[in-house]
Amino acid sequence: MSYLELVGIEAGYGKIKVIKGVNLSAERGEIVLIVGPNGSGKSTLAKVIVGLIPPFKGDVLIDGENISRVKPEKIVKMGIAFVPERRHLFWEMSVKENLLMGAIFVKDYELEERLEKVYHLFPVLKERSRQIAGTLSGGEQQMLAIARALVGNVRLLILDEPCNGIAVGVIDKLLEVLLQLRDSGITILLIDQNAEAVEIADYAYAMRTGKVIAEGKPEDIFFKENMKKLFLT
Ligand SMILES: Nc1ncnc2c1ncn2[C@@H]1O[C@H](COP(=O)(O)OP(=O)(O)O)[C@@H](O)[C@H]1O
Ligand SMILES: [Mg+2]
Repeated sequence: MSYLELVGIEAGYGKIKVIKGVNLSAERGEIVLIVGPNGSGKSTLAKVIVGLIPPFKGDVLIDGENISRVKPEKIVKMGIAFVPERRHLFWEMSVKENLLMGAIFVKDYELEERLEKVYHLFPVLKERSRQIAGTLSGGEQQMLAIARALVGNVRLLILDEPCNGIAVGVIDKLLEVLLQLRDSGITILLIDQNAEAVEIADYAYAMRTGKVIAEGKPEDIFFKENMKKLFLT
């Protein structure tokens, strides 16, 4: 059994079905990429996993445990972190204050160590710990959003289009950090449309209109080239 398994997920808004029977899995310490055109249901699927949208049908399993009806707060405590598309930072607060907001479930005696861990991954955040979040560059804001998620004890990190609106050089830096996190055993579900993302992924799914239309290992060159041609910028 895989670490994360989605089995027959159907979900949507009101009566409108957006996700139409998705099966997907991720192993521990793997980067799994989800690509697909706008409106194909990628963000909706992420929200189902973290409990923000209860599925109409199907199950979300973590280590075999069914979490498809579990509340979002409990899911966060289980070590599942979601960085949404618009980042949702506390714009008026400093970098450090934002990080502390991500640490509400962290015990006091662990706090310093956790902060040091994320500062080590993103040294720029340490340099700018007193800066107001709203004045950071797009790339720094994205780093802060990821760092805030990582202050908790994360086992599964779900990132919704983290490379959107950030400079090309910063994208490489960000993807490099994702590789480090993966190597430390964290599972990463990466929703992204950049060709670079396929280079770091261990497995990829392509979605269209609420369904998975292709999946495979990026080592498979044919698959990789098709993914790039069809879905990526
Ligand atoms: N809050 C919402 N209420 C109603 N429909 C929504 C909502 N969010 C997204 N949708 C619809 O669900 C579909 C999938 O959207 P989304 O999951 O955001 O796709 P993607 O992330 O792949 O661009 C779209 O048709 C979108 O209009
Ligand atoms: Mg989206």
